[in-house]
Amino acid sequence: ENHSNSPIYEDKIVNIAHRGASGYAPEHTIPAYQLGERMKGDYIEIDLQMTKDGRLIAMHDESVDRTTDGTGLVKDLTLTEIKKLDAGTWFNDKNPQLAKKKYEGLVVPTLEEVFKKFGREANYYIETKSPEVYPGMEEELLKVLKDYKMVDSRGHTKNVLIQSFSKESLLKVHDLNPKLPLVQLFSYKTQAAISEKELQSIKRYAMGVGPNFNMVDGTYVKMVRNHGLQFHPYTVNERTDMKKALDWGATGVFTNYPDVFNEVLREY
Ligand code: G3P
Ligand code: CA
Repeated sequence: ENHSNSPIYEDKIVNIAHRGASGYAPEHTIPAYQLGERMKGDYIEIDLQMTKDGRLIAMHDESVDRTTDGTGLVKDLTLTEIKKLDAGTWFNDKNPQLAKKKYEGLVVPTLEEVFKKFGREANYYIETKSPEVYPGMEEELLKVLKDYKMVDSRGHTKNVLIQSFSKESLLKVHDLNPKLPLVQLFSYKTQAAISEKELQSIKRYAMGVGPNFNMVDGTYVKMVRNHGLQFHPYTVNERTDMKKALDWGATGVFTNYPDVFNEVLREY
């Protein structure tokens, strides 16, 4: 299997531009993803929601309220309706010091548009969000991956990782295409622990785990790494935390500041 050019298999620490370089530009917009690339993030992180008419769009929340000038749930809106919304002005209002005229009137991108724009040379770290709300989401994702030749005829990919908090969703993807690399996300409310049994079970379908950084420690990371799993905590925005993650043996981080993480990596 030829994994050349695939950051995840290169034995390098991966820099995942969380929602794009979302510390600087409105999350999940083309400019945020472009900035992520320009700052040498290895992956563009994309959260997926699905419209009423079954199209996959890049958006974090189930509702459009926070990141657009519209209201309502994505599942109740058609793509045409969502395309009318402004996905950038909220960012300018919230971050006057980072505001840019060009963010006004940005549109919500579909997954297809992101693939069209960034092509097969870019790397994508794609999350199935709220899969229980969107029946058929995994099938649609695999269809789009196929249409844009992100997977080859044998089902292999060099540039896509699929992540989810939902084990069911990952298992579904795994069932549809066992060759796709998967990452199991976790959201811990208290200090995290993971058992040998859990790790054994995760290893059957996933190649890595992605927990919230603030609830893990070195022991957790060691256990994950001892099982040969990748460890990608989120969302690591502070230099000191980035260093800590590296000390613990993280194999990558999700960050809103890919430029800062690259600086830390260079000095490390
Ligand atoms: O996907 C990793 C991280 O982004 C998970 O949290 O809520 O930012 O999607 P969230
Ligand atoms: Ca995410």
